[in-house]
Amino acid sequence: MDKRKERSKVVDKARSISILGSTGSIGTNTIDLISRMPEQFIVSALACKCNARLLAKQAKMLQAAFVAIADKNAWPVLRDSLAGTGIEAAAGSEAVLEAARRPAEWIMCSIVGAAGLAPTLEAIRRGCTVALANKEALVCAGSLFIREAMRTGCQILPVDSEHNAIFQLFDTQKRDKIEKITLTASGGPFRTLSRKEMAYKTPKQAAAHPIWSMGKKVSIDSATIMNKGLEIIEAHYLFAMPEVQIDVLIHPESVVHSIVSYIDGSVIAQLSSPDMRIPIAYCLAWPQRMKTITKNLDLVSIGQLNFFTLDNDRFPAINIAREALRTKGDAPCVMNAANEVAVEAFVAGRIGFNEIISVVYETMQRCPTEDIDNLDSVFRANAKGCRIANDIISAFTGVQLRR
Ligand SMILES: NC(=O)c1ccc[n+]([C@@H]2O[C@H](COP(=O)([O-])OP(=O)(O)OC[C@H]3O[C@@H](n4cnc5c(N)ncnc54)[C@H](OP(=O)(O)O)[C@@H]3O)[C@@H](O)[C@H]2O)c1
Repeated sequence: MDKRKERSKVVDKARSISILGSTGSIGTNTIDLISRMPEQFIVSALACKCNARLLAKQAKMLQAAFVAIADKNAWPVLRDSLAGTGIEAAAGSEAVLEAARRPAEWIMCSIVGAAGLAPTLEAIRRGCTVALANKEALVCAGSLFIREAMRTGCQILPVDSEHNAIFQLFDTQKRDKIEKITLTASGGPFRTLSRKEMAYKTPKQAAAHPIWSMGKKVSIDSATIMNKGLEIIEAHYLFAMPEVQIDVLIHPESVVHSIVSYIDGSVIAQLSSPDMRIPIAYCLAWPQRMKTITKNLDLVSIGQLNFFTLDNDRFPAINIAREALRTKGDAPCVMNAANEVAVEAFVAGRIGFNEIISVVYETMQRCPTEDIDNLDSVFRANAKGCRIANDIISAFTGVQLRR
């Protein structure tokens, strides 16, 4: 009998889980938590894009049943690293979908970007509990994903600290008594800078988040505050809240993660240290709670918590996202695609920091809106947004877009 089977016999109450995007920031934080209580979890599948060495190391440590790597060039390293372990492995995007299909009670969907869409939908269609980190699922096709979750009985647990906070505070029995929800935003590394000062910031400076340690793309999205724009769209679908009832507040300390305001004047906030392991642990243990080794929140040593209104002139991303949400159809998907392309172009040194949001804006202006009714239409909208954003970047390279 292999080690995994032996273990699963001993821990018959253990929860079977899969982690899609196991080598990323969310994935490694999830593994950090489960590796501290191995008796409580049986790992069914792990998946990543190309980090074969780390994937193999995780698979061996967790005795995973199946691992998938999207990039076929990384297959030889994965195969050789797992030789003799009995761990089943495969390469290619179909293998990542297979990882999502493997039996598991709980799946972490933390593949970054549009690549996460199909595996996330596959996980939702299994009707299990889905811890959702991948933003694109709800941003690009919120109604499709929520409809599928309702059809299959899948419980979506938001991983994002802000949505996780709202999930903890939102009284679904009294949703008509909720006046608004407020997403807090740290303001990112350029919170106090003028547009002129931001214009010459480098990718390294943009990715250096003052509080959170996250993947590069999400860190740069925090610097442009597009991250919060995407989160407004996510919150709209997760909590069925109209866009006008979703507010944003700048809160540099990142201690209050979100706020729910009720019509009687009660305002309930969720506070914790800014550590992604806290919302991930909430999802892992749901509907229970589990102990973590994260730092206890010490309000006395923090001393004060500050809140500011968002300056939409310096950070226009939120208004663009609100407009995309109001437009509906494929507008949010096109916006997201343009943002991905623009962030990549910024990282590659092709455009400046302020041009990221200019490219997104110009793309939205040029794109006619179409309906989204299935994953194919999402991919078409994504391709359309990428193509137009790339055209804009190529045409404007060397020429300054609006600063
Ligand atoms: N980090 C945070 O604190 C945070 C907070 C809230 C929400 N989120 C959201 O959570 C998602 C993950 O964020 P992250 O910061 O963890 O990103 P990350 O550190 O960049 O990790 C991304 C993960 O996705 C994998 N991946 C990329 N393309 C793939 C593909 N085609 N097939 C299979 N796997 C693929 C990567 O594999 P390789 O390592 O092999 O490239 C890696 O495991 C994003 O949507 C982000 O917006 C993150």
